[in-house]
Amino acid sequence: MNRKPSIFVTRRLPDPAMAILAEHCTVSLWDNAEIPIPRDELLRGVAEAEGLLCLITDRIDAEVIAAAPRLRAVSIMAVGYDNIDREALAARGITLTNTPDVLTETTADLAWALLLAAARRVVEGHKLIERGGWGPWHPLQMVGQDIYGRVLGVVGAGRIGQAVLRRGRGFGMRLLYHNRRPNPALEAELGATYRSLNDLLAESDAVIVTAPLTAETRGMFGAAQFALMKPTSIFVNVARGPLVREDELVAALRAGRPWAAGLDVFEREPIGPDHPLLTLPNVVLTPHIGSASVATRVRMATLAAENLVAVLSGKPTPHVVR
Ligand code: DGY
Repeated sequence: MNRKPSIFVTRRLPDPAMAILAEHCTVSLWDNAEIPIPRDELLRGVAEAEGLLCLITDRIDAEVIAAAPRLRAVSIMAVGYDNIDREALAARGITLTNTPDVLTETTADLAWALLLAAARRVVEGHKLIERGGWGPWHPLQMVGQDIYGRVLGVVGAGRIGQAVLRRGRGFGMRLLYHNRRPNPALEAELGATYRSLNDLLAESDAVIVTAPLTAETRGMFGAAQFALMKPTSIFVNVARGPLVREDELVAALRAGRPWAAGLDVFEREPIGPDHPLLTLPNVVLTPHIGSASVATRVRMATLAAENLVAVLSGKPTPHVVR
């Protein structure tokens, strides 16, 4: 009988992921569904591991990789992998896999939830009622911005960005996108038009960010970019917090340009109740839940488990990060 490879899993995953792993591997686990693994436990945990299944909350850097001399495969239960030192993995020939596709539509739904909530002041209205502040109806009470028929600009037109754009068609919107380079297939399919970042910011009524965090995209939205936006436009980020210079966004929102923001991701997560963004009426915040539907989280965990098993047993998986 073949020896089962040893793996380390940094959090208890939803069914059936743990069962898949246990069938094919000898599993060590940081057995907690909610609290990220402490650094020293992680360094200890990977010591014998041939495979590592991790999350976006785990910093997998050169130190972790050096602590794992037998490591052959890393599987992250996420589409983004900016928390992983890919150069350090490559130097050792360690394969990295991720979980794209399965979370695309769920994340696009949340981007739209934030857009509509910010544009139509949904959370502000809820809070108004909650504190007993709802007086008689009047013509300009809680007026927001229209989304239907306006211009949608998506920054980062990968899978999630395209799913966001597709929804914009149902809202009768003119579609713009910005990417590293134009994508003629996307333009033909969705009728979206490529714009430079500056032109997209100036023309759009809603800007939704879905770009990955890389050395090029880090800090790409700051005071200069917000100054280009319309005073009526809505800014939404469901990608990664460090794409945005948060203190500059706070200042821009205070000054009223953009008009409002919906944010699922932050420079440093989690943020606390004393965060400056929470002093603003024109923001809607969610705690990094873009992919957080029951079905999608189960699919992500299952795929992450299948990816790890495939790599360790020398089978192909389309989800190797190259
Ligand atoms: C990802 O997959 O990268 C999300 O941020 C977490 O689902």
